Amino acid sequence: MTAIRHFLNTQDWSRPDLDALLADAARFKREKLGDALKGRSIALVFFNPSMRTRTSFELGAFQLGGHAIVLQPGKDAWPIEFDLGTVMDGDTEEHIAEVARVLGRYVDMIGVRAFPKFVDWSVDREDRVLRAFAHYSPVPVINMETITHPCQELAHALALQEHFGTSDLRGKKYVLTWTYHPKPLNTAVANSALTIATRMGMDVTLLCPTPDYVLDERYMDWAEANVAESGGSLQVSHDIESAYAGADVVYAKSWGALPFFGNWAPEKPIRDRYRHFIVDEAKMALTNNGVFSHCLPLRRNVKATDAVMDSPQCIAINEAENRLHVQKAVMATLMR
Ligand code: CP
Repeated sequence: MTAIRHFLNTQDWSRPDLDALLADAARFKREKLGDALKGRSIALVFFNPSMRTRTSFELGAFQLGGHAIVLQPGKDAWPIEFDLGTVMDGDTEEHIAEVARVLGRYVDMIGVRAFPKFVDWSVDREDRVLRAFAHYSPVPVINMETITHPCQELAHALALQEHFGTSDLRGKKYVLTWTYHPKPLNTAVANSALTIATRMGMDVTLLCPTPDYVLDERYMDWAEANVAESGGSLQVSHDIESAYAGADVVYAKSWGALPFFGNWAPEKPIRDRYRHFIVDEAKMALTNNGVFSHCLPLRRNVKATDAVMDSPQCIAINEAENRLHVQKAVMATLMR
């Protein structure tokens, strides 16, 4: 029996396969309509809100002749149980073992968005909702953001390739900067940015307020492995000026410090001390005429100033548009 190919993390895909996805995405950007998904369907299972992901997946399937069905367990679909052997006498109505298998009888792919519960990182880091779908599903599963965001990675990489006019991003100085946000957010996009930037061979600086904001060792290890393979570099910095100096790319994201996961009250005064990590014109002036991006949604004048967001160096809207094109490439590839 051939193993089902899922799109759970870019790290599971070879570099040539990722390059092929990006080339397909560039083609889908030029040729909007097609029939690569004619007669095909995808269930989009959202446990959390979305604007870009939902719109771009639904539209992408439609533009390639396919059909997307959105399901929100606990809202318009039954709440799902993920524990094995549990006596289901609580709030959940059906088990993932049935949900994934039944959906697999209807549709050709399943997309899953399931953020962490923010209580216990040792539990959330197992990504068990996504893994359970992949385990039980007879059809390919796509990660629409759990503890990583691989579709965002591809959209980001494509936007950078477009900006620099080359698919070869090696040697670019890339800064992934933590920014303030009033709430402790998911590390998914930060994990993903670190992963794809090192995969592309860039010289990556992870800029964050204190060592507590360094990412989970799994993603730091992936980044180190990518550096060894791609020839880039990786460093962690807590110094804003030296991190921004000469940067070609500044990518911003906020996330909660993992040592405080589930016990966020003591983290709040720490994060409040680092509001000055906001991306502003003064910091961008230190760069090598660097490009700025963010996955969106973004709180203006908290994570980045109006001036940065509205500057010609901001490619966040291009990156968001690219979600549509890269996801078409992922769906079409999984259906080949
Ligand atoms: N960047 C991103 O995934 O956006 P949404 O949360 O709106 O889908």
